[in-house]
Amino acid sequence: MAGSGRLALRTLPGSGWVRGSCPAVLSRLQDAAVVRPGFLSKGEEETLSRELEPELRRRRYEYDHWDALSVQAIHGFRETEKSRWSEASRAILQRVQSAAFGPGQTLLSPVHVLDLEPRGYIKPHVDSVKFCGATIAGLSLLSPSVMRLVHTQEPGQWLELLLEPGSLYILRGVARYDFSHEILRDEESFFGERRIPRGRRISVICRSLPEATGPGQPPPAC
Ligand code: OGA
Ligand code: MN
Repeated sequence: MAGSGRLALRTLPGSGWVRGSCPAVLSRLQDAAVVRPGFLSKGEEETLSRELEPELRRRRYEYDHWDALSVQAIHGFRETEKSRWSEASRAILQRVQSAAFGPGQTLLSPVHVLDLEPRGYIKPHVDSVKFCGATIAGLSLLSPSVMRLVHTQEPGQWLELLLEPGSLYILRGVARYDFSHEILRDEESFFGERRIPRGRRISVICRSLPEATGPGQPPPAC
């Protein structure tokens, strides 16, 4: 019966927004790779995009650029590091901080804003452990997209995150250190069988600062 089928689907861990190579990967990453659809209200989405648009519009889209912060290759993007926000946006960022970060975590400042054009995409990478600590949290605006995570040692282990406008994703611990992440280009933008057409997408990314793990010790699992 269609009804009971849907019910069974709903009881799988995170099945609406997170797909995985197998149930074991899904349950292992349940708290490490999290999607919160509808984290932003429509009004909050508008507040952020209205504030970001004029700053982004001043810049040109770039191609095949290696970003020092996240050691990544991004194609078709422009970006800004923003430290001054309106009061309304500060309240939103504060909500992100309480939802994604622990009380002991300090956030990297300024906040990273990335604007991908419709054909823009982010190739697989792990954010640099020099600049970024255990937690990455991103808000998505304008277009839906698919983020794919692939285990750096075991490529058969993967997750797909469906990032709708207004959603928040959180990558922490294993998901941040042991899996690469990428934003799929339009031609490859599928969540399972479901085609997710890509338009222009803006993300607002908060990162924790690397934590000192003891004198001279490297961060864990890098
Ligand atoms: C990055 C990155 C993801 C996003 O800039 O390192 O992975 O949501 N961005 O834009
Ligand atoms: Mn990244």
